[in-house]
Amino acid sequence: MVNIMRTIDDAPLNDKYVLVRVDFNVPIKEGRVENDARIRKAIPTIEKILELGAKKIILCSHLGRPGGKYDEKYSMRPVYERLKEDFDNIGFDEIFDLKNLVREDLPETRIVLIENLRFEQGEKENHLKFASSLASLADIFVFDAFGVAHREQASVTGVMKYLPTYFGYLMAKEVLELKDHMKKPEHPFTAIISGAKADKINIINNLLKKIDNLIIGGVLANTFLKAKGYNIGESKFDEEGLEFAKKVMKDYPKKVDIPEDVLLADKFDERAETKYSSVEDIEDGWIAVDIGPKTIESYTKILKKSKTIIMAGPIGVFEVDEFSNGTKSIGKVLANSKAKTIIGGGDTVAAIEKFGLQDDMTHVSTGGGASLELLGGNDLPAISELENNIKKFP
Ligand code: 3PG
Repeated sequence: MVNIMRTIDDAPLNDKYVLVRVDFNVPIKEGRVENDARIRKAIPTIEKILELGAKKIILCSHLGRPGGKYDEKYSMRPVYERLKEDFDNIGFDEIFDLKNLVREDLPETRIVLIENLRFEQGEKENHLKFASSLASLADIFVFDAFGVAHREQASVTGVMKYLPTYFGYLMAKEVLELKDHMKKPEHPFTAIISGAKADKINIINNLLKKIDNLIIGGVLANTFLKAKGYNIGESKFDEEGLEFAKKVMKDYPKKVDIPEDVLLADKFDERAETKYSSVEDIEDGWIAVDIGPKTIESYTKILKKSKTIIMAGPIGVFEVDEFSNGTKSIGKVLANSKAKTIIGGGDTVAAIEKFGLQDDMTHVSTGGGASLELLGGNDLPAISELENNIKKFP
């Protein structure tokens, strides 16, 4: 793990154009930011860059997974509306053809938010051409998006190939604190891996060697249940993860805990008909949206014995009150625990804040996947690339 880090405190920002990669991938509901934790946590960095005399700050982020094309649903406009509550001199560049943006055409305000980076195919595919066009907007790059520090994408590692780069306060704090917490994790060490994203499965491998228990929830639980041969009705799962799930359960039969009962809904909203069901009896047409009472009880037993707990991803669809009991119950167990509790990820933080439990956790991280990678002992591409950047732009 790389120890070299430089932050905005070392950056010559006076009179400079500064491109700032933030993680404003926040939940949006009816055109408004529903939970602004990631925005709030980036504000000290933006304020410091202003204080250091930057001529212009160009804020950039992804929002959701729009698949490399424009989709109004994923526009950064609601984020801009939220940022206006903190900053007066801020503009929004609505152009979504981001690869053709030029400095001269940016709005005249001192801070500018540009559109969703993932409207460009080149972002996720890490096209250097896209990275260099983003870099041409500024003189200096500030990376403060811990939530994507585990991604090799144009606005993460790509831009670092072209501009002198400095970490923002959030990024630096997350890395230092998470590494510190994990120096000697006390055992039993339990990880709760959950949430709506199916691709977390790839992260589990390294972590499994370090932990004593792996508690599974969310879409990942559906993948494991299907891998075990259960019918999961219409529940979302990760086709590509099935073989891996089978292998994990075979290799670590005592470590891996999957739900024994679930809350089923006939549709995905608060008007749905719901029922609890054993995982053996899930019928076609139903969707698993939360864990059931027996699973809450067995997961609670494991958590009460644990001395270190990390949680990445809400256990169920907590956004719908009717489906939120599992996430709330498990969140409360963590909040009342004497264990070191580390919570990570945009949705997880939103869930914990919804239930008012954030102040009772040891560390609340803005990154889910990124914190799991770091805690699993993996190098984060953003950190390794910063090291190269320091050699290139001393
Ligand atoms: C997150 O929410 O975990 C980060 O913003 C990363 O998003 P991604 O998993 O879509 O890359």
